[in-house]
Amino acid sequence: MTQQLTFIGGGNIALAIYGGLLDAGYPPQSITVSDPSPAQGALATAMGLTWQADNASAIKTADIVLVCVKPNWVETVCQELQPALEGQTLVSVAAGVSTAQIAQWSGTDRVIRCMPNTPALVKTGMMGLFSNPSVHPDTCAAVENLLSSVGLTTWFDQESDLDAVTAISGSGPAYFFYLMEAMITAAESFGIEAAVARTLVVQTALGAASMAAGSEHSPNALRQQVTSPGGTTEAACSLLTEADFTALVTAACAAAKARSEALSAH
Ligand SMILES: NC(=O)c1ccc[n+]([C@@H]2O[C@H](COP(=O)([O-])OP(=O)(O)OC[C@H]3O[C@@H](n4cnc5c(N)ncnc54)[C@H](OP(=O)(O)O)[C@@H]3O)[C@@H](O)[C@H]2O)c1
Repeated sequence: MTQQLTFIGGGNIALAIYGGLLDAGYPPQSITVSDPSPAQGALATAMGLTWQADNASAIKTADIVLVCVKPNWVETVCQELQPALEGQTLVSVAAGVSTAQIAQWSGTDRVIRCMPNTPALVKTGMMGLFSNPSVHPDTCAAVENLLSSVGLTTWFDQESDLDAVTAISGSGPAYFFYLMEAMITAAESFGIEAAVARTLVVQTALGAASMAAGSEHSPNALRQQVTSPGGTTEAACSLLTEADFTALVTAACAAAKARSEALSAH
């Protein structure tokens, strides 16, 4: 049976998810978007969805409510939804907002928390999921199925693991962009024209990610395979090893995790 979905907030991440669902053949008449912005409403209605500006009215016929507003809006939104909740499951994508907080504000403990990332916009997202034990396994399976339209999903038993997910896949696209920036800077310093440098770097990143995704070998094994003794790759990787590249990246991820933990504590 097709689930009736309501997105509360129709911004970037909502658009990524409902866009992916529509592309996968999800019926537009089963999706409502609630957002005060007429621009988001116009976007949704142009795709055949129902637009509402009132959150409580928008969830009346919903089975699953996807809370896609900024974290500082979640409490207000949950309080608005509370009187209209009659068995719907809430799925929140808000960073740093716990299922306990959502349960407290909304009055329902049927809550799933999802940590997506921006590649969901191009259907290569990575989403960590945690469910409150009150959510029926069939509903968890339905939510997983919905979110799979924009990327891969993995469930976690401990909600605290979502801080690690935030640090790795949530913030991770920015780390790869940073590496790309650095390599483009290096290419330009060798006299390569900017547009060409960008193509060299982005296509290399895409190729490396595709190889890693499609291979049974670890990234370490893939790196060894392209590193000949005394060769060019070894010259670069030796320098990174001497500078303790792994320790630097681990410390950066730990800083992101600590920040996520601090935000979740409020
Ligand atoms: N973008 C990502 O890659 C990403 C990754 C991980 C997690 N998240 C989480 O996803 C959530 C949404 O992020 P986003 O990037 O999609 O934000 P966004 O583009 O700003 O979208 C949020 C939308 O919610 C609307 N809104 C504000 N108050 C509302 C209310 N009371 N009721 C209904 N709608 C309301 C906003 O309208 P106005 O613009 O008019 O205020 C906006 O259209 C955040 O909690 C974030 O932590 C996002």
